[in-house]
Amino acid sequence: MDQAQTLRRIGNTGGSIESIRKPNTGAKVIAVTSGKGGVGKTNIAANLAYLFSKMGKKVLLLDADAGLANIDVLLGISPHFNLYHLFRGEKTLPEIAIKGPGGMIIIPAASGIQQMADLSAGQKLTLVEELDNYNEKIDVMIIDTAAGITGNVMYFNTAARDIIVVISPDPTSLTDSYALIKILSQGYAVHHFKVLANMVKDAGEAFEVYKRLSGATNHFLNVSVGYLGYVTRDRCVSASIKQQSLFAEIYPSSRASRLLAAIADEIWREESRTSGSRGMIKFFGDAVVDRDD
Ligand SMILES: Nc1ncnc2c1ncn2[C@@H]1O[C@H](COP(=O)(O)OP(=O)(O)OP(=O)(O)O)[C@@H](O)[C@H]1O
Ligand SMILES: [Mg+2]
Repeated sequence: MDQAQTLRRIGNTGGSIESIRKPNTGAKVIAVTSGKGGVGKTNIAANLAYLFSKMGKKVLLLDADAGLANIDVLLGISPHFNLYHLFRGEKTLPEIAIKGPGGMIIIPAASGIQQMADLSAGQKLTLVEELDNYNEKIDVMIIDTAAGITGNVMYFNTAARDIIVVISPDPTSLTDSYALIKILSQGYAVHHFKVLANMVKDAGEAFEVYKRLSGATNHFLNVSVGYLGYVTRDRCVSASIKQQSLFAEIYPSSRASRLLAAIADEIWREESRTSGSRGMIKFFGDAVVDRDD
């Protein structure tokens, strides 16, 4: 009997597959991702997490990118432990979690790119089980992924119910986003995406880059690519990074902060409109855990 059959059988004899492999959380899981690197994912993810915290939500920010400019660097914190220790079985999730701005919980990335590049099935399960313990404690989980189309980027994106694809006006950002969406839809059955245009001049440029991407995806792929909004190129972003703080926290009235706050509001409005009908979220589902192992 294969694993799927085993699970189905268990499901038929009382326990549900969901309760075994899919933590039954009411939390909203959002992956912030991009085809091309350096488009602002980490800044968007961390500031969005902060804005949700300020809205009174309990937020978990998962750093799924062990690249150089990761969340702890952005915030000037040096966690003693990170996902690497969790995956080695040395620490539990609460032991590696740290408190961030606004009270958010941050799960720091593994220390080296290699440690996050290729998670085994066992490591993925460890993460699922540990995150399960947080179910009651969080309203929203934001995953800052690495850029590109590696297996783990796909894994974390498939794990989320909502995927925010960050794009910039750079033409390579468009082609790389297209490639990411294509692979997620054709290889991983992910069909819904939201686009956030970052580092744009204004609303006009933002919508133009969105239209270029959605024009191509609508024409060639079977996906829905919605428009979430935009954040302008803003000096406050680099100024806040120099101060190892979040722009939404230290420059709340900057244009970037106001635009992102509007996006945070919209995400939550949409959530309250649809959560009743969709029920509990998909949260590191079994298909994800099994897929590439
Ligand atoms: N709205 C913005 N205005 C000005 N600069 C920005 C903006 N968004 C991001 N940046 C700058 O772009 C750079 C990359 O940002 P960030 O690290 O968030 O991108 P990333 O997509 O997470 O990169 P990576 O793919 O390497 O993880 C940072 O130096 C940041 O200052
Ligand atoms: Mg990043």
